[in-house]
Amino acid sequence: MKKIIALGGSNSKKSINKALATYVAKQVANSETIVADLNDFNIPQYGIDHEVEHGIPAGATRLHDLIDAADGLVISLAEHNGAYSAAFKSAYDWLSRINPKVWKEKPMLLMATSPGGRGAQTVLGIAKAGFPRLGGNIIADFSLPFFDTNFSENGIKDEALQTELNEKIKLLEAVI
Ligand SMILES: Cc1cc2nc3c(=O)[nH]c(=O)nc-3n(C[C@H](O)[C@H](O)[C@H](O)COP(=O)(O)O)c2cc1C
Repeated sequence: MKKIIALGGSNSKKSINKALATYVAKQVANSETIVADLNDFNIPQYGIDHEVEHGIPAGATRLHDLIDAADGLVISLAEHNGAYSAAFKSAYDWLSRINPKVWKEKPMLLMATSPGGRGAQTVLGIAKAGFPRLGGNIIADFSLPFFDTNFSENGIKDEALQTELNEKIKLLEAVI
């Protein structure tokens, strides 16, 4: 069984991105899903003074080790004011202090969703441009607009989007 990490780039307990990442990771054939909820890692806001005084937080090291042990990553990013959520950015910054190859070249399906019509494409674009410089191996990417009307636990209601997503899941399955 391959290990797939499902990560939502948000600290919302009801995160729509965590829901999407979890749903998609569960579709990957012959794999088990490990949901990495940012709330479970207790990662403080990144700051150089914090790092000098206290070192790397244990939760950041735990998240690093989870990624290290994974066969594939399914990540869905929340968009806050056209950028990463603060919680995700802090986790990302801490991870980069442990190892600059944050994503360790693990095959990644990179997504973003929002309640609006742009489907968090701005933050998706930022990650598509930036992740490869930090060990990101993006196999495919996907944006889901209008989360509230398009998403259900049984699948994506918009048929064209579901077909597109299925194709991208297949691309991930082919390389893990
Ligand atoms: C501070 C803040 C800024 C936001 N900025 C954007 C934005 O730039 N683009 C967007 O599509 N949605 C934006 N939203 C709405 C989020 O997409 C929405 O809250 C979504 O649920 C976030 O994902 P999550 O549930 O996984 O945390 C913003 C929400 C907050 C709280």
